[in-house]
Amino acid sequence: MPEEKEQLTDLPYLEVPRPEEAGTHPTSTPNMPPMKNPPEELKDIAAKTAAPGSAQARKADPPEKVRMAKPLPKAEDDPGTWEFGRRSFLRAAGWMSFFGFLTIATVGALRMMFPRTLYEPPKSFKAGKPNEYLPMTVSEKYKDTERVWICRDEENIFALVAICTHLGCTPRWLAAEAKFKCPCHGSGFTFEGINFEGPAPRPLERAKIVLTESGELLVDKAQTFRYENGDWVKPESFVKI
Ligand code: FES
Repeated sequence: MPEEKEQLTDLPYLEVPRPEEAGTHPTSTPNMPPMKNPPEELKDIAAKTAAPGSAQARKADPPEKVRMAKPLPKAEDDPGTWEFGRRSFLRAAGWMSFFGFLTIATVGALRMMFPRTLYEPPKSFKAGKPNEYLPMTVSEKYKDTERVWICRDEENIFALVAICTHLGCTPRWLAAEAKFKCPCHGSGFTFEGINFEGPAPRPLERAKIVLTESGELLVDKAQTFRYENGDWVKPESFVKI
């Protein structure tokens, strides 16, 4: 056995191709290993015809060195310069439009929570006790605030609306002449409110007047009574004393 080992070590080195390279090397055949020291011509042919990516191919045609582009300087590297280009302008315009829309929508939503409503003053008011008014007198206590006279004759109290039926001026009570006189065009009305001179086409109107449970007079201007319609005989057009 030792003699056989020496004989094997004396044999020349035999390069055995790997299974995947078998048959692809030009110095080999599918059934024959490559030559140990092939001539230079065969080496060149082997390198040129080697499989792409193999060691022989890279040796024959080494990849060129790739020149990398020089990286651009970052904005924070140069804080001293600021360019406002088209892209920056469009970005700023977009943000401004967004926040503008947001502001308008918010203001509109808030305004919806507080509707602008006009509240008219109440049409009714309390006019005191009946005994505060003397017979055959006209009280101008509520003329300026309510545009109503409280009139009392021998039997009744009624509320006369102080609006001229011509064009809406406020007539004056002339106690000495016992009549209402309009300063605008001269219309005249009797103590009861009947028109008897001037352009006024019809008598003054009366407002609703009732006596409350507490004994006070309550006048409601929302409901009026017209003489020409026969309303002055209706119960709520006067209060019987
Ligand atoms: S408005 Fe009273 S007379 Fe014309």
